[in-house]
Amino acid sequence: MLRITVLNDNRNANPILGCEHGLSLFLESGEKKILFDTGNTDLFLKNAEKLGIRPEEAEMIVLSHGDYDHTGGLRYLPGGQKLLAHPACTSYRISRTRGTFAGMPMEAQEIQKKYRTAFSREPVALGGKVTFLGEIERKTDFEGKNFPMIDREGKIYPCPDDSGLMIETPQGLIVISGCAHSGICNTVEYAKKLSGTKKVCAVLGGFHLLTMDAAAQKTIDYMRENVEKVYLAHCTADEVCEAFREQMPDRTEVLGAGTVLEW
Ligand SMILES: [Fe+2]
Ligand SMILES: [Fe+2]
Repeated sequence: MLRITVLNDNRNANPILGCEHGLSLFLESGEKKILFDTGNTDLFLKNAEKLGIRPEEAEMIVLSHGDYDHTGGLRYLPGGQKLLAHPACTSYRISRTRGTFAGMPMEAQEIQKKYRTAFSREPVALGGKVTFLGEIERKTDFEGKNFPMIDREGKIYPCPDDSGLMIETPQGLIVISGCAHSGICNTVEYAKKLSGTKKVCAVLGGFHLLTMDAAAQKTIDYMRENVEKVYLAHCTADEVCEAFREQMPDRTEVLGAGTVLEW
């Protein structure tokens, strides 16, 4: 049995919980427990407590990428757990809109001291049919054009650290993204290539579609053709969620803090 609980998201699905800009998911695949991202603050821990979940008991933390809204919560865990991420996760980055630092709130050395850290560009099998994707191939011509960060020199930061997870289930492949800065279609295509699986039963997470533009429409077209169901979270704008609902009725679900999904 696979269970995914949304510990934190931009939206709220349970009135007893809080929400903030960010993402944190708790995955239970058989005996295996994985914390995927931590949100920006300790809110994921507060929500988890109300849900009877102990994220500190996860044997591994996987980071989708180094943006603050996915890694800020690392400050509030006791440490000692395994942590897996792309090596560029600790790269310096600044928000284009706010002009402020927007990377990981802890230096690489601090992270390595606190957690049993492994960095990988390559895919890593985590057991329980769960795989960390590593660096995602970018092939579509309509994705990866709207990066929210710049580097120290003021150049666009293309977020090479953006990754995700795939889980192979009897119903098909489940693909999980943090922000999908590589492009969510690229992420799905890469997971299909790695797994050799054609049937994708679910794509879940932030799609990084901030307006209902041509790229968003091409993404909906792709999902309609290639994916059974989408579970939209985090950086997927309300108007994009609405367009998914219109064009993929019964195949679209919008997530929020407290949503529990089971396969
Ligand atoms: Fe994000
Ligand atoms: Fe991001």
